[in-house]
Amino acid sequence: MGEAVRVKDLSVWYGSQKALDNVSITVPRGSVYAILGPSGCGKSTLLRAINKLVLLRDGVRVEGEVRVFGVDVYRDPRGEEVLARVGMVFQTPNPFPHLSIYDNVAIGPRLRGQSKGRELDELVRWALEKAGLWEEVRDRLRKPASELSGGQQQRLCIARALALRPGLLLMDEPTANLDPLNAARIEELVKELSREITIILVTHDAEQAQRLARRGALLFMGRVVEEGLLSGILSRPYSKVLQALVAKCRVAGGDGEATEPLLP
Ligand SMILES: Nc1ncnc2c1ncn2[C@@H]1O[C@H](COP(=O)(O)OP(=O)(O)O)[C@@H](O)[C@H]1O
Ligand SMILES: [Mg+2]
Repeated sequence: MGEAVRVKDLSVWYGSQKALDNVSITVPRGSVYAILGPSGCGKSTLLRAINKLVLLRDGVRVEGEVRVFGVDVYRDPRGEEVLARVGMVFQTPNPFPHLSIYDNVAIGPRLRGQSKGRELDELVRWALEKAGLWEEVRDRLRKPASELSGGQQQRLCIARALALRPGLLLMDEPTANLDPLNAARIEELVKELSREITIILVTHDAEQAQRLARRGALLFMGRVVEEGLLSGILSRPYSKVLQALVAKCRVAGGDGEATEPLLP
């Protein structure tokens, strides 16, 4: 078994603003791990620090250590190789709208020169099947991704991530912009995928976290205030207060999310 991710004393600054303060979490392999907390507490920053996406922003400073499958991704030259097997799914489905359904899934392997021809066709099909989208798109693989519904687009983004054959999948509120039916489909998918892939799931929704994950962390103002079994975390009185706060933020409009380039 062992650990998929170990974050130790991680701090992240955007300019002079500290967004993460000495965060430490341990994510076991082969599980779903939930990151909870109110809007603005640093959930997305933590996820983006794990795959180094935060470094795309100007003026970001990172201190501390992130190990993914044992490799220190900020210091070890093998970090790039390890991160090539880390997928990411964002809050707003963000396929490349002008690219075809097929090309959206094929883009990662193509950029890495990993497969082509029939092998690539098979990989695309496999990823779409895993993402529960194949049956709906098999007859229109060459159509632009923009023709898909929101829920389908999110499953396409999951397929795009899966085409990289990730050992770790980072999901940032993947159901926040979906209707309940599509959200439920994604939840089923998370359950299914977690048999083979470690998943870190950022979510607003404590109930969703409990349906999907056994362990997790609760963040507040850039700090981990609780880590461990969700059943324990969510039974503590102040966790309930925080969750109430989360509910309020949602009514007020919830998180914003900046869209970012995603592929290597
Ligand atoms: N690119 C950025 N530049 C400056 N501040 C940022 C940036 N991204 C996030 N922040 C700030 O960092 C804090 C954590 O944000 P974020 O990680 O997005 O939280 P969450 O995902 O929990 O809503 C917030 O105060 C937010 O305003
Ligand atoms: Mg966020």
